[in-house]
Amino acid sequence: MCGIIGYIGFRSAKEVLLKSLKRLEYRGYDSAGVAIVDGKINVAKKKGYIDSLEFDFDGTLGIGHTRWATHGVPEDRNAHPFLDCKGEIAIVHNGIIENYMELKEKLIKEGHKFKSDTDSEVIAHLIEEHYNGNLKEAFFKAIKELKGSFAIVAISKNERKIMAAKKDSPLVIGVGDHENFVASDIPAFLEYTNRVIVMRDGEISELTEDFVHFYDFNGNEINKEVQIVEWSIEDAEKSGYEHFMLKEIYEQPFALDSTLHSLLSRNDMNFDFGRVTIVACGTSYHAGLVGKYIIEELLRIPVEVYYASEYRYRPNVADNSLAIFITQSGETADTIAAARKAKASGNETLAITNVVGSSITNYVDKVIYTNAGPEIGVAATKTFTAQLMALEYFAIKAGESMGKLSASHARDLLNSLRKVPMYVENTLNLNGIIKKEAEKIHKRKDMFFIARGMNYPIALEGALKMKEISYIHAEGYPAGELKHGPLALIEEDIPVIALVPEDITYDKMLSNIKEVSARNAYVIGVSSSEDVGKYVDTLIKVPSTEPHLSPFVNVVVLQLLAYHTAKLLGREIDKPRNLAKSVTVE
Ligand code: AGP
Repeated sequence: MCGIIGYIGFRSAKEVLLKSLKRLEYRGYDSAGVAIVDGKINVAKKKGYIDSLEFDFDGTLGIGHTRWATHGVPEDRNAHPFLDCKGEIAIVHNGIIENYMELKEKLIKEGHKFKSDTDSEVIAHLIEEHYNGNLKEAFFKAIKELKGSFAIVAISKNERKIMAAKKDSPLVIGVGDHENFVASDIPAFLEYTNRVIVMRDGEISELTEDFVHFYDFNGNEINKEVQIVEWSIEDAEKSGYEHFMLKEIYEQPFALDSTLHSLLSRNDMNFDFGRVTIVACGTSYHAGLVGKYIIEELLRIPVEVYYASEYRYRPNVADNSLAIFITQSGETADTIAAARKAKASGNETLAITNVVGSSITNYVDKVIYTNAGPEIGVAATKTFTAQLMALEYFAIKAGESMGKLSASHARDLLNSLRKVPMYVENTLNLNGIIKKEAEKIHKRKDMFFIARGMNYPIALEGALKMKEISYIHAEGYPAGELKHGPLALIEEDIPVIALVPEDITYDKMLSNIKEVSARNAYVIGVSSSEDVGKYVDTLIKVPSTEPHLSPFVNVVVLQLLAYHTAKLLGREIDKPRNLAKSVTVE
């Protein structure tokens, strides 16, 4: 998975490409590169962050790339853009070319010389093979030969145009005045234009400064509509916060309010199903696990939750099940593959995503958008709580439409959701206390997060956040399971973060806390009950909520704890090692 940008117009391509790449850096940061046309094609590319890319050429037509390595180690030679043999054509690619070995062998026999270990380089040579002075023609021919997933942008030194193709990797067009843009994501060009056209799978676009034309892979022209994007570039920038992650944690009250309001305006939330299957990865999977508790409680129907990467090993089952796919980016390859499988098995499908027009929306019957705004930090925060909001709302509306909830019960539940932004706002006021706890625990090698019931997935999420950005080994456990093995790992001063909501899990959680305290663990209790203070080393007293809403406040504490711990350790919080924001490989 990578970020790509193409620009044609009147501005300095160097400036546009570098700024855009910075905004795409969340998609991968193993290497960065640009190609700019100025009589010839000038290329600069380098392993590492965009800031390390230095060059002094410029022009008004160019392409850029920021890479998350799949084929070929992160080295200068594997950085994009790639050129053909003559240096007349340059391409950038996001995705995986599945038949690249076969194509490469054929092209080598034709005399092409390759310089990288990547699958992507084959595209430049394939276009060259078909090139007869007409980039558009050669591009169409080359695309037809590719198998796999791709967003490709190509330029030639001989023609003032950009060609772009999309299949299973995102690509959006930014429409300007006497300038046009093509990129993996809207923030890349939002500073210059808010007029956007989302490309669909199987589409090719041709851009000059004065027009953008769209075609299917067979060359038939397609008409597409321009959409106006309402969010500003400030929404996608740090607004004075030290990290995107912290900004996004603090944006949660607003993101939750805006998600709820966009949901309340919908009148198409009628459902009829006998079971639910939820499929997702990482943090979105944890939202799915919370969703299981919510849906089973309100609808009294069985819910299964799968990791998307495991769902493929499930036999095809058409079981009157509604299959829900949760993915903030809408681009996670495993989740998209699972959605395709569920649909092929005859299930009704629903996606919950934060990105309008993202790939997952092409493969499902219905979409619920969270309205959290762009999330740049690799660690998902505001999109997670927005997903919880969407699941709460979905369960209430489904319960109502299926006759499982009375109108007045549904109304009471919806009213309780309106208080969530305030609960989260009040939890953010605990930042100072949470930071002090991070100071106490940040040098530890291991940590445990424990909870029961619908907060058990929050314990998993707390551990994931801690691992992901602080690199400390952290385990999330159902508190009742400790004595079945992990208790052997509890030793003096090991931090145990225990979530103790005032619900049916309360008494049992206190017993589990006693078990770890007896082994001299350092216990941080997260609870709205003052009483919990008697059993723990430190109590982080969160706002009291309706029992089903405690995950919203508890997860905010764990997000801040992970953030401060990672900061004290000097980690790259927004871009943790080995990770990328959207994982478009299976
Ligand atoms: C969360 O902090 C992680 N970065 C990761 O687990 C993420 O939630 C996962 O990759 C799924 O992404 P998606 O929601 O975009 O599908």
